Amino acid sequence: EFPDKVRIVEVGPRDGLQNEKQPIDVAVKVKLVEMLADAGLTSIETGSFVNPKWVPQMAGSEAVFASLQRRPGVTYSALTPNLKGFERAHAAGASEVAVFTATSESFARKNTNCSIAESLDRAKVLMAAAAEQGLPVRGYISCVVGCPYEGEIRPEQVAEVAQQLLALGCYEISLGDTIGVGTPASVTAMLDAVLAHIPLENIAVHLHDTYGQALANIYAALQVGVAVIDSSVAGLGGCPYAKGASGNVATEDVVYMLNGLGIHHGVDLDKLAAAGQFICDSLGRDNGSKVAIALANK
Ligand code: HMG
Ligand code: MG
Repeated sequence: EFPDKVRIVEVGPRDGLQNEKQPIDVAVKVKLVEMLADAGLTSIETGSFVNPKWVPQMAGSEAVFASLQRRPGVTYSALTPNLKGFERAHAAGASEVAVFTATSESFARKNTNCSIAESLDRAKVLMAAAAEQGLPVRGYISCVVGCPYEGEIRPEQVAEVAQQLLALGCYEISLGDTIGVGTPASVTAMLDAVLAHIPLENIAVHLHDTYGQALANIYAALQVGVAVIDSSVAGLGGCPYAKGASGNVATEDVVYMLNGLGIHHGVDLDKLAAAGQFICDSLGRDNGSKVAIALANK
């Protein structure tokens, strides 16, 4: 059964922009985040505190957090791989952080330079510090359907890692189809395996649209009751460690579908589309949202 209400987690300023090669002014990033909040998004992943040598685009995250005009009721979160990342995020004033691991050892190695077990150890240390500061921690799992290095991933592998993240104290597990290979069949099978062990209210989906399946997969996730959806305005993004991966599903497209389904989300589509067009114009790139293009041509 569909949920009545969905929380959209906007990841464009982080997952979207992290892969952009051209330098982006802090002011542009800040304006994007502010426009997204103005459109009604209440969860915005605003930056990441990883090794800047690996992801140079996110090196300016301190500056983004520092110059942001914050709206009450909005969570400005940050991706953090380890204690050092947490300390940077906390000093910058992030209101929430997210740790990340993977279902496959090869991907964990490429993405975080360590094994899955080591990434969970790092998360544990980080989470103790976060608990001391009272900051909620979200957990991401990459490659929940397929891995660019290891191919198909068994649903039980996902359930296993998800339980470990939950046991560490993550309040929510975001299940990432990093390379967008899932279909409603494989995504449903994966969710069934996870939901056999983890309550629905702790689950989010994070679907990249590489094979054009993201919206169909979200529909499948809604059907099993998942009520938290990660998306990226204008379909920004890709992943530096997943060659050829395109952006997350476009937030505009998710909002349009939810409107049609009568599921509440609290986002103003026109304001959201304006935010998407702003960042596309700033980057000189095409808009990756079909809905945004359609609205612009109406
Ligand atoms: P490491 O294993 O410590 O080793 O890093 P390293 O060789 O990569 O780096 C060591 C150096 O990094 C040291 O500095 C550390 O101080 C520094 P040096 O002595 O060389 O000058 N360092 C840091 N600097 C700043 N902030 C930090 C930090 N930590 C160490 N937090 C690490 C491990 C994970 C940090 C590194 O591998 C890294 O930053 N990787 C980048 C991972 C990343 O950002 N990936 C993309 C985001 S994940 C994603 O997109 C997937 C997701 O969207 C879900 C999905 O779609 O699947 C979430
Ligand atoms: Mg992602």
